[in-house]
Amino acid sequence: MIPISDRNPRSAGASPMRPGLYTGTASYKLDTMSVADELHPVLHAGRVAVITGAASGIGKAAALEFAKLGLKVAIADVDEARLAAVGKQLVEQIGEANVLIVPTDVAQIDQVTRLRDRVYEAWGEVAVLMNNAGIGIKGTSWEGLENWHKIFNVNVFGVVNVQQVFVPSMLHQENPAMIINTGSKQGFTNPPGNAAYNASKAAVKSLTEGLAHELRNQPDSNVTAHLFVPGWTWTGITGANGGAEKPAGAWTAEETVLYMLDHARAGEFYILVPDNETKREVDQLRIMWGAADIVEGRPALSRWDPNYKALFEEYMRDGLAQLD
Ligand SMILES: NC(=O)c1ccc[n+]([C@@H]2O[C@H](COP(=O)([O-])OP(=O)(O)OC[C@H]3O[C@@H](n4cnc5c(N)ncnc54)[C@H](O)[C@@H]3O)[C@@H](O)[C@H]2O)c1
Repeated sequence: MIPISDRNPRSAGASPMRPGLYTGTASYKLDTMSVADELHPVLHAGRVAVITGAASGIGKAAALEFAKLGLKVAIADVDEARLAAVGKQLVEQIGEANVLIVPTDVAQIDQVTRLRDRVYEAWGEVAVLMNNAGIGIKGTSWEGLENWHKIFNVNVFGVVNVQQVFVPSMLHQENPAMIINTGSKQGFTNPPGNAAYNASKAAVKSLTEGLAHELRNQPDSNVTAHLFVPGWTWTGITGANGGAEKPAGAWTAEETVLYMLDHARAGEFYILVPDNETKREVDQLRIMWGAADIVEGRPALSRWDPNYKALFEEYMRDGLAQLD
């Protein structure tokens, strides 16, 4: 039982979650993956990348980057016109034989199955599977039920469909492979404003952690899973496709993808990407504050509760001073 004094918002008493006890940088590294780019067993020329949501933003940037590394690239998206445009760019870059353009709605299992069949028929393997398609339409707690269904069908069941269809085939390959699921910081910290999106990304965190554990415990598995958590990135979802200029605080999709690739190469599971506004230490402190809501018995989302405003600000100030 937590003593009442520790629940008082104005008490800054000892807490297991205070940053002073935080021991430093994350260390989820697999030594086998910490090798030079050209030697990496998965991310190297001649192998195969499959990317959903590849017609725009992060998925598009990833497709172009994989092509630059010499991988064959299969791109999938519901937006056929944009997908065709990205496909054209890729064909110019690496040639028709190395590009598959497969219009796909990830919410439809038959379309995902078709995507897998096209890739295995063409190239016989998958090295990198980027489960990236996502939507951010609004669904608040007691409104927008239809949007809740849409968001879960894409952001959650899209990921589940792709895993269910691809993982059994990937487990049969001898070559190592990786699955990169795109989550969100909103799935960790749950900021008020879009309950449906947050809940869908919390589900992606949960199911990707489960996937990583299951793969790790699968005899002879050569497949790893990674939770890619972009920072604020200037893409379709955040307004980029309307032609507006990138806000200073956001990263470009290319920056986010390059950071992701560096950390995937290093074998990290949680790939938490910063941006020009939010550095890693700020994310770390916010995540720990959210976890402390549970262990200290504070109100839900106390970070946005006026009674906790001063304490949260003090916590961030002290925490950053200690971590810097
Ligand atoms: N941009 C950010 O700041 C940010 C931050 C955190 C997480 N994310 C996540 O990154 C991922 C990529 O989004 P983005 O930022 O590049 O946005 P984006 O809108 O530019 O790209 C998302 C792509 O997914 C496609 N898509 C939507 N529904 C689909 C479906 N049913 N089947 C197949 N494709 C579908 C869209 O057509 C679009 O091309 C998403 O999962 C998003 O939630 C983005």
